[in-house]
Amino acid sequence: MEERYLPRSPLVHQHLVWDTAVGSRVEDPTGRQLIDFTSGVLVANIGHSHPRVVEAITRQAGRLLNCYDAPHPLRGEVARRLVEAAGETFEAAALFTTGSEAIDAGTKLAKAFTGRWEVVSFVEGFHGRSVGPASSSGLASVRRGFGPLIPGTIVVPYPASFRCPVRHCRDACDLTCLQVTRTLIRANSTGNVAAVLVEPYLGAGGAHVPPAAFWPALRELCDELGALLIFDEVQASFGRTGAMFAFQSLGVVPDILVVAKGIAGGVPMSAIVTSRAILDALPPGSLGSTYGGNPLACAACLATLDVLESESLAAAALTKGHFLIDVLTDFALRVPQLGEVRGIGLSLGLDFVTDRDTRTPNPRLAEAVVFAADAAGVVVLPPAGEGGNVVRLAPPLSIPEADLHEGAERLMRGISQAVDSFGHGA
Ligand SMILES: Cc1ncc(COP(=O)(O)O)c(C=O)c1O
Repeated sequence: MEERYLPRSPLVHQHLVWDTAVGSRVEDPTGRQLIDFTSGVLVANIGHSHPRVVEAITRQAGRLLNCYDAPHPLRGEVARRLVEAAGETFEAAALFTTGSEAIDAGTKLAKAFTGRWEVVSFVEGFHGRSVGPASSSGLASVRRGFGPLIPGTIVVPYPASFRCPVRHCRDACDLTCLQVTRTLIRANSTGNVAAVLVEPYLGAGGAHVPPAAFWPALRELCDELGALLIFDEVQASFGRTGAMFAFQSLGVVPDILVVAKGIAGGVPMSAIVTSRAILDALPPGSLGSTYGGNPLACAACLATLDVLESESLAAAALTKGHFLIDVLTDFALRVPQLGEVRGIGLSLGLDFVTDRDTRTPNPRLAEAVVFAADAAGVVVLPPAGEGGNVVRLAPPLSIPEADLHEGAERLMRGISQAVDSFGHGA
């Protein structure tokens, strides 16, 4: 039925039929259980079908499911909790349904607030598939075939040191890419940069994590340009990187924070959090959306925030992330085709190569690893990055130690099998 009635998706997305998912376990329709190293797609930070979320949405479903843009008791409370969790200069929030929708809203707000129209974004950045976010994406696979996209986008290099776009500072980043960025802006901008739109780490672009010095330098650049800094934390928020919001551990404060995925424990919801002045830059009604801030999503969000705090899941992401990075980095010493293990918090990428020196991407091996991991009993994300060679791991932050360790064992078994069946240098 899927093949007949739904859009086609790559085979690698179809390897597993999800029948149920609870906590960190997924079960297919035959009853085979796998350990989840995906959280769906970085959504189930608190674990799948957390009982407190199930209880909250069940209760809410019998009271009020939809009231369009009318006030209801949970909406203001969600905004207050998000603002307080973000702290700093944040004062107000707007609620939406998907990450793409919130990115669009954040970009429009920046344009309205500054009276300008250009957006600086990054090579291999991903902000969603609708036309606004796709226009800011630096992934060819997202842009190709849809031109002309929204004018005024200036795509600049992201400090991805394993695959340094400037090359000369490979592995020893000295932020030369920011000099290139200044040149590109000077050459392409009409002096109207409204915003710099950036991910705290490249998600779909292959799990690249910038060096710490990048963030204050980027903030300085925004201030020089008079542009707003928009942090796309659609996948980096709600504990994933080891802090409630990623910016909180990077020593930089964005003007607009965009969040989604982990916000409501699996129920579709997204938000922007910003200052009152920026949010008021658009006239009343301009940020409305049929399902934005709907009661069911709000109930799920409040329960999710409670769980994140009461189970200290941001701190858990750090310790569990360190464990995974250590064990897999050690393993990579014995697997020349595993070029780098990298990540932040509990969001990791395994960069498969044909050759360690040239670092040529090895997408076929990455794809084989996804299938082999599945066969070994652990679900991993489909290959990411422009080269299609980075297998990403993002277990629920609540994953029990036993599942984390067993999942890592199964994954290493899967990788070894995939490498063996390919032969060296494959
Ligand atoms: C960093 C980032 N921004 C935006 C989006 C788009 O979110 P959505 O698919 O909910 O529209 C994604 C989705 O994966 C993402 O990872």
